Amino acid sequence: MFEQPLSKYAVIGDPITQSLSPDIHNACFHQMEMEANYDAVHVRKEELAPKVKSLIQSGYKGFNVTIPHKVDIIGLLDEIDPFADAIGAVNTVVVEGSSLKGYNTDGPGFYQALLQVHPFNLKEANILVIGAGGAARAIVKTFLLKGIKKVSVTNRTAGKAEQLLEGSSGLLLSLEEAEANLGQYDIVINTTPIGMVQNLHATPISTEHLESHTDVVDIIYNPLMTKFLKQGVEKGCTIQNGVPMFIYQAALSFELWTGMKPDLSLMKKTVEQKLGGK
Ligand code: ATR
Repeated sequence: MFEQPLSKYAVIGDPITQSLSPDIHNACFHQMEMEANYDAVHVRKEELAPKVKSLIQSGYKGFNVTIPHKVDIIGLLDEIDPFADAIGAVNTVVVEGSSLKGYNTDGPGFYQALLQVHPFNLKEANILVIGAGGAARAIVKTFLLKGIKKVSVTNRTAGKAEQLLEGSSGLLLSLEEAEANLGQYDIVINTTPIGMVQNLHATPISTEHLESHTDVVDIIYNPLMTKFLKQGVEKGCTIQNGVPMFIYQAALSFELWTGMKPDLSLMKKTVEQKLGGK
C-alpha cells in the first residue's frame, strides 16, 4: 500500500505564537484520520512575498493569513473570491499548483456565529460596531452585503469609520453618541483589542446605558470573558465571545482546502481546553 503524502497547511502572521489555529485544525485532521498538518509560520510584514513563495515551493496546499497581512496578500494572488474582494481583505488562501486563490471567511464566519445569538430578524436588527480595523471591515461589509441596513459604527479615529461606511447606509457615531444611545441597539459588537490580555481591565465603551434586551458580542476569545462581556452579563444581556466566530471562520477555511466539514464541537472543545475554561 502507498502512503498518502502529507498535506501541509499553515497560518502566517506576526505575532503568531499565540495562534490557536494549529490546535483546532490539527485536532480535526487527527480525528478524521487525514495525513495532514497545520503549523504557525512567523512572517514579518516586509517578508510576505518571499515567505509565500517558499510555502508554495514547499508544497503547502493552503494557508490562513492573519495580522498584518490580510490586505497585502491580495497583491500576491492569482484570483480573488468576489466576496473577499468586496470586503477588501483575505484570510484564507487555497494553493493549486503555483496558483493562489484568496477568500475571506472572517465575515461569513462571524455572521454564522451571530445567528446563534440572534437567530430571528437579524436583517432587521439595529447593530452597533465598535472599531473600524480589518475585523470590523469584514463584519460591516458582510452585514451590508447580507442586506442588514441598520448598522452604526463608532471608532477612536472617526475618519477610519467614515471610510469604512463610505457609500453605504451605515451611520457614523462618536464614542459619546454611541455610549448615550447604547440602549437602542439590538446587538453591540466589540471589534477592538480592548479587553485582551494586554488591557484586561478596560472596556471599549461605557456600558452605563446598556439594557438587557441588547446582545453583547466580543470578537476577542482570549480571555474567554472580557470585562465588556462581564458587564453585559451584569446588565442581564445575552453575550457571545469570539470563540464561535473563530471556529466558524476556521471551519469554512477547512472546507475550502479539503472539501470536508470539520467537527465544530471538537474545535470548540479544543479552544476552551487551551484557554482553560468555558
Ligand atoms: P483588526 O485587523 O484586528 O481589526 P486593526 O486593524 O489594528 O485590527 O484595528 C483595531 C481597531 O481597534 C481599530 O478600529 C482601532 O482604532 P483606530 O482606528 O483609532 O486605530 C481600535 N483600537 C485599537 N486600540 C485601541 C485603543 N487603545 N482604544 C480605542 N480603540 C482602539
